[in-house]
Amino acid sequence: MKNIIAPSILAADFANLQLAVEMINASEADWIHIDIMDGAFVPNISFGIPVCEAIGRHAKKPMDVHLMIERPENYVAQFKKAGASYISVHIEACPHLHRNIQQIKDLDCKAGVAVNPHTSISQLEDIIADIDLVCLMSVNPGFGGQKFIENVYSKIEKLKEMILRRNSKALIEIDGGVNQGNAKKLLDMGADVLVAGNFVFSSANPMDTIKSLKNL
Ligand code: DX5
Ligand code: ZN
Repeated sequence: MKNIIAPSILAADFANLQLAVEMINASEADWIHIDIMDGAFVPNISFGIPVCEAIGRHAKKPMDVHLMIERPENYVAQFKKAGASYISVHIEACPHLHRNIQQIKDLDCKAGVAVNPHTSISQLEDIIADIDLVCLMSVNPGFGGQKFIENVYSKIEKLKEMILRRNSKALIEIDGGVNQGNAKKLLDMGADVLVAGNFVFSSANPMDTIKSLKNL
């Protein structure tokens, strides 16, 4: 399967979101990554459901919604309504993760689980067969433009082994600090989806940058 590229709208100019979405529409990107931060689970607030809905009105590519929030069960139906195709919740925020995943699937969304850099892959053992996506954080969630944490490489290998052994269909997504210097290695090690925020939006030509990630 060809790698999936998901530019993160968090790094776009929020005063020109429509332009950013249209750029992604016209590019070789596969998904649009939407980072939702609540100022509680993570020490930052990004934007919420109305902005996600506004992005969805222009998006021609699936919206991959990454919920960095507490109590996601109170909001997932609204994100589905706002146009989400994938919804990921954080394992660290979900004491009843299995229930959260079922709720997302019952909404006819693809269900993902995001894991912080310190969280062991072994914690996914009993949920991996039920999910469509694992979002491996390669930075501590909360901010774009952070330095890539190399420990994620060994997590990809462990996760790939678990996915095969458990006969799971989950895709492996890498989120945080992805750039030209690590993207190829991540894909070679088994990553399926690369999220890229600053690397895309801070570049001189975001469409060309997306193309370069897509054609590694
Ligand atoms: C971090 C977010 C990421 C972020 C990635 O909390 O989950 O999706 O937008 O941005 P970059 O690629 O700039 O690290
Ligand atoms: Zn994200």
